[in-house]
Amino acid sequence: MKAPAVTAVTARPERLTVQWADGTRGEFAAIWLRDNLPENRHHHSGQRLNDVADLPRDSRIRSSSVAGTGLSLAWQDESQVATFALDWLYACATGLPGRPEFHPRRWLQGATLDAKRDFALLSWPAIQSDARARLGWLTRLLQDGLAFLTGVPSIEGTILEAMAFVGRVAETNYGRLFDVRTVAQPENLAFSDLGLGLHADNPYREPVPGFQALHTLVAAPDGGDSLFADGFALAAQLQADDPDSFTLLTRTPVPFRYRGTGADLYAERPLIELSCTGAIAAIAYNNRSIQPLRLPAAECTAFYAAYRRFAELLRDPRFQLSTRLGNGDLAIFDNRRVLHGRTGFASVKHPRHLQGCYLTRDSVCSEAALLRAALAAES
Ligand SMILES: [Fe+2]
Repeated sequence: MKAPAVTAVTARPERLTVQWADGTRGEFAAIWLRDNLPENRHHHSGQRLNDVADLPRDSRIRSSSVAGTGLSLAWQDESQVATFALDWLYACATGLPGRPEFHPRRWLQGATLDAKRDFALLSWPAIQSDARARLGWLTRLLQDGLAFLTGVPSIEGTILEAMAFVGRVAETNYGRLFDVRTVAQPENLAFSDLGLGLHADNPYREPVPGFQALHTLVAAPDGGDSLFADGFALAAQLQADDPDSFTLLTRTPVPFRYRGTGADLYAERPLIELSCTGAIAAIAYNNRSIQPLRLPAAECTAFYAAYRRFAELLRDPRFQLSTRLGNGDLAIFDNRRVLHGRTGFASVKHPRHLQGCYLTRDSVCSEAALLRAALAAES
């Protein structure tokens, strides 16, 4: 990031203030500057060599000066002068990294949206060969939590080939991929022909799968429509309508369990998870795998009232994006944000078949960042 010209620098013992020509103002604590000295970084890996306990307890600035692209600092307790790149200080002053995962675009009124018009859609040839189109698609996937591919060959296993362009597949007890089709004795209702209400997958895992991809190999001609809703937008709606219910759902640990062949998985987490700054960070709604809550009766009754309020929002058709995925269509969504479901279908007449897989969330963010850097370097 290229910084504009510096217009003013003020050095006080406990902090440095820098003003740039575009109005950006950076304030840096002396202890923070001492911790971030460039010479405290490994020359190859860039990782920090020092620990906070190595720093002087009372770092104090004596003076500062700007020369060319650098800013030098003299300390009161140390003879060695520190030099910081102004571009680096400017990047630190401008706040959050510009990564799309930090800038989600919420969409509440799902019923007014069209999957292929309003969300990122890329063809099978384009994701393989058009890096710029893939970056645009990944960026929108990270911002909207949902995107689609079209024309992915309806051949078993091709989903893994497609996901190699998106992120890292996470293997589970279902394997690297799983088949979604009707079986006689399903261990999971996903493997029946019943409709499924909006849910997040696998809240009984640690961590919960980051992204989920579903590739339609054989669509049902009647029924089996896909449903999606933005769980972050719905949680924000609950917060606005009924703040007490929202708070209860963020603070009550809910047990989730899956027991099947080769796995007995258990985790506890709130239905709405907040980040350390209080932002909505994850939704873990899955009525099929919630276990009996162990709460005193009065608390349990209050929890159920809040749980119902949220469930009613999830059922509200105004908030659901409904789409019919055809053979070769692939949907991918942020499983910790975008809830998914389906309408029922008649499996006896029509053997609907999807293949799915999970991807780690950080690997999808990383793929977008690497691609952005590579394309920026090219241009
Ligand atoms: Fe699911």
